[in-house]
Amino acid sequence: MIDTNGGVPTKHDLRIGVIGVGGRGGLANYAHKPGRGSYLIAGADVNPKALQEFRERVGQEARVYEDYRQLLAADDIDAVFITSPDYCHEEHAVAALEAGKAIYLEKPMAITIEGCDRILETARRTEGLLYVGHNLRHAPFAVTMKSLIDQGAIGQVKAIWCRHFISYGGEAYFKDWHAQRELSTGLLLQKGAHDIDIIHWLGGGYTQRVHAMGGLTLYGDIKDRRSPDEPPMIRSVPDLWPPTAQTGLNPVIDVEDLSHVQMQLDNGVLASYVQCHYTPDAWRNYTVIGTKGRIENFGDYAGDVVVRLWNSAPDYRSRGDREYPIESDQKNHGGADPNIVDEFVRVVRDGDSASLTPLDARYSVATGCCATQSLREQSQAIDVPGVSEACEAYFEKYCDGERVTA
Ligand SMILES: NC(=O)c1ccc[n+]([C@@H]2O[C@H](COP(=O)([O-])OP(=O)(O)OC[C@H]3O[C@@H](n4cnc5c(N)ncnc54)[C@H](O)[C@@H]3O)[C@@H](O)[C@H]2O)c1
Repeated sequence: MIDTNGGVPTKHDLRIGVIGVGGRGGLANYAHKPGRGSYLIAGADVNPKALQEFRERVGQEARVYEDYRQLLAADDIDAVFITSPDYCHEEHAVAALEAGKAIYLEKPMAITIEGCDRILETARRTEGLLYVGHNLRHAPFAVTMKSLIDQGAIGQVKAIWCRHFISYGGEAYFKDWHAQRELSTGLLLQKGAHDIDIIHWLGGGYTQRVHAMGGLTLYGDIKDRRSPDEPPMIRSVPDLWPPTAQTGLNPVIDVEDLSHVQMQLDNGVLASYVQCHYTPDAWRNYTVIGTKGRIENFGDYAGDVVVRLWNSAPDYRSRGDREYPIESDQKNHGGADPNIVDEFVRVVRDGDSASLTPLDARYSVATGCCATQSLREQSQAIDVPGVSEACEAYFEKYCDGERVTA
């Protein structure tokens, strides 16, 4: 049960439904503040056990549905969190927008460019409120890096390099739907959507052209697979080492576990992103180089997180010219999760502007899709397609805070 300080819902509270209450669906708990602005009124999930657990944490008065369409048909729901798996996002988002609900759609927006564009078109036609959840934008280390760039600490950004170490790859991405192209497209999109968005944000543009190399270099060789009718056994704290000792992997694995991507942004910034799913440690390291210096983060969510700035005459200084220690919550993705939920509620209730626009989310998926296509097609360079003129005009206006609120 979530501690709600004994709050009782009022008619001013935003009434929220959750589609996909298990797993990441726990994010919506941060919006359960009856009497203090918003509360969870209903949940939908295909798994009855997940629905039972949802009621145990939110309260037995919460309504539950095994068919998400019943939740969307309810008139007393103002907004919905869509925290179902990636392959459901397009269907669930389009249906929720058609039903007139304001939506928090978990990243990635969809698993294809066409899927994203269908969601954008639906939001435009229905004038619905579409908020895509990229919580990494709310991580304190990323906010600090963006603020240093905006203050001119490194001059004009020219290059961004991101190394993404994922120690828990075997557990989190090679035991269930994530491992299948059909359901995720690939991990460059699934996981990389976060980082591609941060690269766009720090670099001030969207990727125009991309090429990539990658492969299934470790997990494909592991023969210990679960049978298709067995549920995945995912350990919450991976304690298995080395990764070659993994067991119970997904019956089908056709996504990559190692990927290298090069991107050219529409403002000339060059970026690279490398992702590995079998490192001993788990964090993201960004280096941003500008005309007057560079910044780099050490640690991201947990541990001693610091951003360092080098901006004086050339020399080797391991700690940089200045250090910015980051106050980061050890849980909740460094505090990013409560922050993003608060922002969503403010956007819906008070008409605040969002820190990320639907176009930002769409371009991170489009870049991830094109990079995935490139690495599967001899690393050819691919131009990332844009959105329709109508969509661009609508969402640029939307981004300027002129959007019609729910
Ligand atoms: N931003 C982050 O930090 C972060 C972290 C983890 C996951 N995610 C995202 O959250 C989403 C969910 O990921 P997950 O790992 O929790 O997935 P999951 O497989 O655990 O599924 C989440 C819930 O959705 C339910 N579900 C599946 N199909 C459904 C359907 N058709 N209708 C309703 N409910 C359905 C499942 O039963 C489960 O309870 C994904 O899009 C993932 O990319 C984001």
